[in-house]
Amino acid sequence: SKRYNITLLPGDGIGPEVVSVAKNVLTLAGSQQGIEFEFREMPVGGAALDLVGVPLPDETLSVAKQSDAILLGAIGGYKWDNNEKHLKPETGLLQLRAGLGVFANLRPATVLPQLVDSSTLKKEVAEGVDLMVVRELTGGIYFGQPRGFGKNEKGEEIGFNTEVYATYEIDRIARVAFETARKRRGKLCSVDKANVLEASMLWRKRVTMMASHYPDVELTHMYVDNAAMQLIRDPKQFDTIVTNNIFGDILSDEASMLTGSIGMLPSACLGESGPGLFEPIHGSAPDIAGQDKANPLATVLSVAMLLRYGLQEENAARTIENAVLETLNKGFRTGDIFSTGKKLLGCKEIGEEVMKSVGSQEKVS
Ligand code: NAD
Ligand code: IPM
Ligand code: MN
Repeated sequence: SKRYNITLLPGDGIGPEVVSVAKNVLTLAGSQQGIEFEFREMPVGGAALDLVGVPLPDETLSVAKQSDAILLGAIGGYKWDNNEKHLKPETGLLQLRAGLGVFANLRPATVLPQLVDSSTLKKEVAEGVDLMVVRELTGGIYFGQPRGFGKNEKGEEIGFNTEVYATYEIDRIARVAFETARKRRGKLCSVDKANVLEASMLWRKRVTMMASHYPDVELTHMYVDNAAMQLIRDPKQFDTIVTNNIFGDILSDEASMLTGSIGMLPSACLGESGPGLFEPIHGSAPDIAGQDKANPLATVLSVAMLLRYGLQEENAARTIENAVLETLNKGFRTGDIFSTGKKLLGCKEIGEEVMKSVGSQEKVS
């Protein structure tokens, strides 16, 4: 039987709650396909700060690098919000992404028929939305130099950051985006701010050059402010979106609300080589942490992406996605996607329903 080493990074807030559910689902779906997993749980974020004083311990990164795939819950919380930059949980996550070289972040947003009523948009607007945000993840303003605090000529305190992209960074994310669009509906929209920012002007030029290698993909460009508006006005116009680190962060949270809840959106962070990092797009949700209220489905669906993109185990990935759909079909909901007439469950309970569904698929096949 096949064996894989998985690094679990539960992190903070609801992270440990949703990772625990997803781990059980992964174990069961794997065992049906003759796959065994060996898990190693490592600290990251606030949990690591409390334990060893840094948000990404060297050992966490080296264990992660040596594994076949990494599952992250979420990091951050009030307790560490006023820490210095290098001692923030968020810095640990950025170091992890950079350390693994996972420059491509795939963030799908699909409106499931079961959840059309959970969207805050009109049914006819939300129905049938199926888009993929390809977010550049290891460059741009998150990492650009120079950055820091200082003084201006009046002696006032300033904080500054740099939005910077090199051609190789744009080319490699563009390649992933064109390949992604090619496997979907063949439409790619590149989102930038090329009317103002030099980094975006270069972005647009390189993405346009890359298009000549993908004659089967229809490329369009859109300014980010318009894209934010169009996502709400008519989200069905989008198939694949490619954009920089910060615009991708914002637009994917926005896209999540088309689908009903940020608690539903998974993601895959992939590099040129080495293990992928798989994480829900949501954060540690400190407002509901420790109350068994979190929606674990974003993390469960991240495990499906881990199987598909990280381990090439398509069957197990499908089993999990089907189990999530079946759980929703049966009317089970967490608070964030609840609507009248449905059955409200906690994080653990809905996890158990997904497990039952995974189990029942075994009997059929
Ligand atoms: P958040 O995503 O944690 O929460 C935003 C809102 O969505 C909250 O009301 C929360 O309760 C709700 N929510 C999020 N996930 C949910 C789930 N699975 N089920 C039900 N409801 C859910 O964003 P925030 O409040 O801006 O940030 C909180 C902390 O998380 C901050 O420290 C932030 O830096 C961190 N953060 C981490 C990640 C990550 O680890 N990848 C991502 C975003 C934010
Ligand atoms: C995300 C988060 C992170 C980001 C933060 C916590 C560093 O918002 O994963 O979307 O901005 O990338
Ligand atoms: Mn975010």
